[in-house]
Amino acid sequence: MIKGVILAGGAGTRLHPITKVTSKQLLPLYNKPMIYFPIQTLLEAGVKEILIIVAPEHSGDFINLLGSGKQFGEGVKFSYEVQDQPLGLAHGLGLARDFAKGSKCSLILGDNLFTDSFKKEFDEFDESGEGAVIFATEVPDARRFGVIEFDDQMNAVSIEEKPENPKSNYAQTGLYIYDEYVFDYIDQLTPSARGELEITDLHKIYLAKDQLKAGIVEGVWQDTGTFESMFEAAEIVKNMENK
Ligand code: G1P
Repeated sequence: MIKGVILAGGAGTRLHPITKVTSKQLLPLYNKPMIYFPIQTLLEAGVKEILIIVAPEHSGDFINLLGSGKQFGEGVKFSYEVQDQPLGLAHGLGLARDFAKGSKCSLILGDNLFTDSFKKEFDEFDESGEGAVIFATEVPDARRFGVIEFDDQMNAVSIEEKPENPKSNYAQTGLYIYDEYVFDYIDQLTPSARGELEITDLHKIYLAKDQLKAGIVEGVWQDTGTFESMFEAAEIVKNMENK
């Protein structure tokens, strides 16, 4: 069974002052705290054991809000791990090593909103998947993201973090599935220029082994890294709720 990791650490400095005293992932998107949406995406994909990575100063608030996970459904279990410093997405995932205990695991960013179901892709990977799958979607401004180029078999050909000249219009979103070797590869990473263990560097290791695949997000994907995108995400939720 694929386990789930939600990254909700990070300082959220780009969104000051609204993230000054609370975590970005606890802020509302219309009528629910932001983190409810990645939780929903994992539950919908069939993931029941979820580790939530939080920043130390907000850890109590996450536990107060989300608890054991029981209220999210039968068999749903949440655990928590503290990321002492915001040292990058791959560093955060690395904290899940004991939790994963040799299982395949998925990672979702706590501020990403998806409307698709990924159940089919998760089931397939659970049964026979190897390597890593990163979910990608076409965007008008690929330079803001990790950019993946892939062939018609969905095998990645290149991946670059925020390139000047993107080789495709496909951004890697904040949803990934990995085989059980991911923690060994994280051990091989070194900090980037901004002092973080980068998720794209992790994906480059899989790419070098010809084990990086793209999955396509057909519905909505919205990250909430700016005031503008957060506002848009809230409108998407409002429209969905009112349907
Ligand atoms: C991170 C990743 C980037 C990815 C994006 C998705 O960027 O580094 O590759 O496309 O998340 O939200 P960040 O938002 O940390 O700049």
